[in-house]
Amino acid sequence: MPACPELFAAAVPVAEIITDRDNASWLQCWHDRQTGFHQAAINPLLSRFWPELGMDAGSRIFVPLCGKSLDMLWLAQQGHEVIGVELSPLAVRAFFEENHLRPTRRPAGLLTLWRAGRISILCGDYFALTGNELGQIDAVYDRAALTAFPEDVRLLYVAHLQVILPTSGKVFILTTEMPDADALPAHTLEADSEIVSLYGAAFNIELLHVEQVFEADPDGDDQAHIAIAHKVYRLSPKG
Ligand SMILES: C[S@@+](CC[C@H](N)C(=O)[O-])C[C@H]1O[C@@H](n2cnc3c(N)ncnc32)[C@H](O)[C@@H]1O
Repeated sequence: MPACPELFAAAVPVAEIITDRDNASWLQCWHDRQTGFHQAAINPLLSRFWPELGMDAGSRIFVPLCGKSLDMLWLAQQGHEVIGVELSPLAVRAFFEENHLRPTRRPAGLLTLWRAGRISILCGDYFALTGNELGQIDAVYDRAALTAFPEDVRLLYVAHLQVILPTSGKVFILTTEMPDADALPAHTLEADSEIVSLYGAAFNIELLHVEQVFEADPDGDDQAHIAIAHKVYRLSPKG
């Protein structure tokens, strides 16, 4: 990250400034209904591999950058307490309305807590979230959360995660990786180097599963296809 002394002088949290720009574009996405990342069904890799975390029914699961993901319903059906955080009030409202849930709402620090049954969503900026609002967390479910941030913010995302979850639990990550042109085929079968560099100091990283699918190349001609790797990671705290 480039040095930015005037920001430090103003004593404004750096993450807040970096993400302001991104926050505006995410809010716009929801406003314009450009939500191609949303999955209309529960992620099959979640239901298949989540049991390998060995979480008890009453465990509290944090879902950062949750959008209106149906995966939260599945986690709640397993008996877990689900706590999401999502920037867009449109997304949060849509989640509860589309699933016929009637949430209560109350302020929670700088965010607003929406809650129905076993599902709570803290509406606001992830970087404004503190451990007070979140409470005890036993595991994290990340699908397209880390990767929703630009590369220079991902380090801050992981650092903030470690601040708000002082007693770190396991982390379950689903990623979708596009191979770069120079990558050797074997690289698609390894843990992504960015996951290793961001989490490797604090967590043991296991790549549970890799699934390659061929999809039409959005930048290529009609016939062009690219291999995409869906990966499932289980991270367990060291020590
Ligand atoms: C790529 S989407 C993934 C959503 C969800 N995990 C899923 O699987 O459908 C990223 C989500 O993060 C939200 N988001 C982006 N920046 C955020 C921030 N700073 N704090 C909270 N939510 C944020 C966006 O509004 C968007 O809904």
